[in-house]
Amino acid sequence: MRLKDSVLEDNPHWYRDAVIYQVHIKAFADSNADGIGDFRGLTGKLDYLQQLGVTALWLLPFYPSPQRDDGYDIADYYDVNPNYNTLREFKQFLRAAHRRGLRVITELVLNHTSDQHPWFQRARKAKQGSAHRDFYVWSDTPEKYRDARIIFRDFESSNWTWDPVAKANYWHRFYSHQPDLNFDNPKVQAEMLKVIDFWMGLGVDGVRLDAVPYLYEREGTNCENLPETHTFLKKLRAHLDERFKNRLLLSEANQWPEDAAAYFGDGDESNMAFHFPLMPRMFMAIEMEDRFPIVDILDQTPAIPEGCQWAIFLRNHDELTLEMVTDEERDYMYRVYAADPRARINLGIRRRLAPLMKNNRRKIELMNVLLFSMPGTPIIYYGDEIGMGDNYYLGDRNGVRTPMQWNQDRNAGFSQSSPQRLFLPVIIEAEYHYESINVENQERNPSSLLWWMRRTIAMRKNFKAFGCGSLEILPSDNPKVLTFIRSHKDEKILVVINLSRFTQTVTVDLSRYAGMFPEEVFSRNRFPIIQESRYHFTMGQYDYFWFVLRSTEARREPCDEEYLKLKLAEGHPWWDVVNGKAGERFCSFVLPLYLQRVFWFCGKGRVISQITILESCQLKQNDQLFLLTFIKVAYTEWDPEVYLLPLAWISNERLQNVKERYPLEIITPLSLGDIDGFLCDAAYFEEFRELLMKMIHERTKVTGEPVLIWLA
Ligand code: NOJ
Ligand code: CA
Repeated sequence: MRLKDSVLEDNPHWYRDAVIYQVHIKAFADSNADGIGDFRGLTGKLDYLQQLGVTALWLLPFYPSPQRDDGYDIADYYDVNPNYNTLREFKQFLRAAHRRGLRVITELVLNHTSDQHPWFQRARKAKQGSAHRDFYVWSDTPEKYRDARIIFRDFESSNWTWDPVAKANYWHRFYSHQPDLNFDNPKVQAEMLKVIDFWMGLGVDGVRLDAVPYLYEREGTNCENLPETHTFLKKLRAHLDERFKNRLLLSEANQWPEDAAAYFGDGDESNMAFHFPLMPRMFMAIEMEDRFPIVDILDQTPAIPEGCQWAIFLRNHDELTLEMVTDEERDYMYRVYAADPRARINLGIRRRLAPLMKNNRRKIELMNVLLFSMPGTPIIYYGDEIGMGDNYYLGDRNGVRTPMQWNQDRNAGFSQSSPQRLFLPVIIEAEYHYESINVENQERNPSSLLWWMRRTIAMRKNFKAFGCGSLEILPSDNPKVLTFIRSHKDEKILVVINLSRFTQTVTVDLSRYAGMFPEEVFSRNRFPIIQESRYHFTMGQYDYFWFVLRSTEARREPCDEEYLKLKLAEGHPWWDVVNGKAGERFCSFVLPLYLQRVFWFCGKGRVISQITILESCQLKQNDQLFLLTFIKVAYTEWDPEVYLLPLAWISNERLQNVKERYPLEIITPLSLGDIDGFLCDAAYFEEFRELLMKMIHERTKVTGEPVLIWLA
């Protein structure tokens, strides 16, 4: 990738404040009407993803494969499945994503290959004990490693399968057509390093390490998380860091927090790891209307090394896995979320977020708020941003892998092919029918879930604390309300989440923040100042708040003269006062006070949330220069207003004259290096006024927008 094409920041920790979108190439957009999504289709939808606000894309496996495990059964690590176009289109996609500042994470399926992979075909025919044979794990008896659990228990009854060609059993942790590679063989390790070099060389930003806990087998263990696996990961990380900059390793280890955190090593293994146990507990908490499951699992989550990050998610392409819960918890989850046994698969539930929430918009939002507030980088599963439905009558986990719903045209706008040719049928269940649940409908409606997601993602990105901050649970008197603080340096975000279907009140101990006030981030409404005593919130059903805690100090009204003095760097003309840093000061300190003093300002008594200079232009006549500025005053609870403010500059000497005739409040000391002068609202001064009026009459069409023009 040529650097000039990329707008990616040079930041080794980019993943810490990323928002990741998980996407299936085959399910997103079909460019050539063959019923299967492809890279050209995905590239065509990058605008949509950029508008959603996500910052990275995680692509499910797109390599040549017999597709018996949806591409996790790889037959060639170095190419693109011809159904999804070719390497050329992959490269074009990657470049287009980077140009938009979107990073790309791909899959590195280390643990196993397809039985169609040439390595396996070669191994089964190779001599016993030879290096080629030893690419995989063989045994004469299926009795070895009995302590390893069976993961795909609805499909497999053993981790061994007899191969009549090799005349031996081969080991597989997943489907029997996915033989496990043998990481004890240095040649296998070397091959994997070559694979990662290839994709990183093309410019991929990170890889998800599929099924990473299962790389090694040892008798007498459960064959998960073995020390040898960590040794290999350290080697992989060192290899990567030596050759590439700003790349990510993301471990898929469906494990308890301690074991999952081990995949960070001492900061020398993977940069990120999924937090599997947190996911079902968010679902439990909302159903039980109790914060306990979340608080408890966060409590069990160890601190992680500097620079590392959890990957958190609600749903993904697999079943909602219930491996990291107790038996009672699993029973509960099945009872409340999968009453129909057909919704269950292996140890989990094959449903999407919206149906799991019974299509309750408030619950869907609340779950996303939880996701965006928890410690880690959130991952959104494609289609969940519009509340897509599922179809668990399709086999395996296909019910959550159906075509993306773009509009109400044929095949939901996903493909021009015959509906019979689609890789999977689109959702036509009445409640989630693609004619109503689709991107186009939701783009048109600012109240849609899609717009809500866009706004919430955009808001989250304003605060470093969500991605990089610590989390402190705040004790409160109501277990149905989860309250915590995310903080990063001086930034403090107070999160209040009502998990209940009823209105609740909650009293929180915020005394540590006494003197500050909570400002709700979407409305910028200020709540009462926090006192030493307890703080009280009243919340509607499934309600949430994100507050930024502001110190009253920072919001102090600028009252002393110093605040009003503007200083421009030497060599700057006075009209630069509305630009850059000086402009920010002008808007945040000078103007709010100034506006309160002039009679024409309508917003006295309202809370100003922001003042911005929309436009400024210079007018010059008879050697007199004016600056016409259009200022927009936004309020916390009022529509914004636009004012025209004509500015002029008068020197120190002329001030004496002026002082006698005009009130001093309307001028602002301005210092340009060693020349002092005053910035004044030119409309107040007789000497400028006539000139100005004339010029304004000539030029009121400076912007196409309606403006309020207030002149004394
Ligand atoms: C984990 C993947 O998420 C899943 O889809 C796949 O079936 C297994 N690994 C086996 O590769
Ligand atoms: Ca296609």
